[in-house]
Amino acid sequence: MSMSSSFAMSRRSLLLTGAGAALTMVTPWAARPEGVREIRLAARPGQASLVGDSHPQTDVLGYDGKVPGPTLRLKQGELVRIIVENRLDQDTTVHWHGIRLPNAMDGVPGLTQPPIKPGESFAYEFTPPDAGTFWYHPHANSLQQLGRGLAGALIVEESNPLEFDREILWMIGDWRLKRDAQIAAGFGNGMEAAMSGRVGNTVTINGTLPTEEPVRAGERVRLRLVNSALARIMALRFEGHRPVVVAIDGQPCDPHEPEGDRVVLGPAMRIDVVLDMGGEPGRRYRVIDDFYDDLAYTLVQLAYDEKPLGRSTPLGAVVSLPPNPMPMPDLTTAEHHELALQGGMMSGMMMGGNGMNGGMMGGGMMDGGMMGMMGGMGDAAWSINGTSMTGDGHADMQPLLTLKRGRSYVLALRNETAWWHPMHLHGHSFRVVSRNGTPNPRREWGDTVLVPPKKTVDIAFVADNPGNWMLHCHVMDHQMAGLMTVLRVA
Ligand code: C2O
Ligand code: CU
Ligand code: CU
Repeated sequence: MSMSSSFAMSRRSLLLTGAGAALTMVTPWAARPEGVREIRLAARPGQASLVGDSHPQTDVLGYDGKVPGPTLRLKQGELVRIIVENRLDQDTTVHWHGIRLPNAMDGVPGLTQPPIKPGESFAYEFTPPDAGTFWYHPHANSLQQLGRGLAGALIVEESNPLEFDREILWMIGDWRLKRDAQIAAGFGNGMEAAMSGRVGNTVTINGTLPTEEPVRAGERVRLRLVNSALARIMALRFEGHRPVVVAIDGQPCDPHEPEGDRVVLGPAMRIDVVLDMGGEPGRRYRVIDDFYDDLAYTLVQLAYDEKPLGRSTPLGAVVSLPPNPMPMPDLTTAEHHELALQGGMMSGMMMGGNGMNGGMMGGGMMDGGMMGMMGGMGDAAWSINGTSMTGDGHADMQPLLTLKRGRSYVLALRNETAWWHPMHLHGHSFRVVSRNGTPNPRREWGDTVLVPPKKTVDIAFVADNPGNWMLHCHVMDHQMAGLMTVLRVA
């Protein structure tokens, strides 16, 4: 595609976004500085070697046909234009998960932009205010589009990066594959939607079945973890190592060893850890995911080279990453609201490993919504404060709350269900202020917080970004089946 046609396209896309763009930090077209960094991405079908070369390739949907899509490395505070071309046979959009950007660039179809039709393009423009580990994925037909591979990592580099010997990115995906290595159909199964969501049978790192990660004794690695699964929650245990968490959802936190020595990542969450490779040269150490009882497996092995890294001075303690320019919520004046997460089936049938017959009805149901839900997709299985918004985003979503721009809010996310929910807010990062009434001992920010069954997590933020913002569970089946709402900041 020639430059001129792409420029025409961006201009049209910007016009389409209309008033939204004018309200925001997007520079007007005429005043746009020369030499804005431009990136192109095509959402299109492709093939990926998910399970290795001894198996057939898997038909996927991917950015530039790849799984995961290209890792985008942006600079904090630097304007970027990302032109997304839709070469799928269905509408799409891209959501830049965790980036605090103008509403018109948020990628929610109907709510923040018209969907990108097949054959069309859309120019996203934003200046990432925060450095950290983020990711991008569609927000249209999300269960299928994300579930078939459309996702990529987005790294915003610090202007003064800390020194590490090396950086490693693990974008961890989860797939439900058939014996021929093709992606199993059956997305949006009503039963799963009301339980754990579509947990797969194959976990990949950066798009392939991992075997080993080569490391050297003595090196200090910054490991960026991204959970891009539809539904699988991960709890990583690094045998023989003591990972130090330095950032959660892109936002620096006080460096700490994770609780229970497990790095827990709900879908869409990112955690940066610093790993000092203190193992023995030539040895291997397992990284185990044991989130689900009785279903622990070895994700990958850290494989030590025979030669240690020669280091003249010993490594000091892990220091904090430089903080991002986050507006600090004022807890003394914040307005409080409660969001009750409701619905789903009672637990105890599925993850316990027994079948869905018999036990299911005996297990009971909540909110009387179960029978209606059995009909299939589109029917609500979940709700927030009694209201179910289903799907990926559409024009007529009425905000549950209107927040005053510039004001501090505390939202109590009260999980009344029997299932875990990684709750995600668009357009803002929030502080996790307490869990079940216990104040968080650490400085912790996030954009997605895992709320355990029957527990409450309080989050706080300054509603400083105007627009209509999604708040939803990032278990994709849960979002599609009603665990979603809209907050308006005006
Ligand atoms: Cu990463 Cu609305 O989602
Ligand atoms: Cu998001
Ligand atoms: Cu959920």
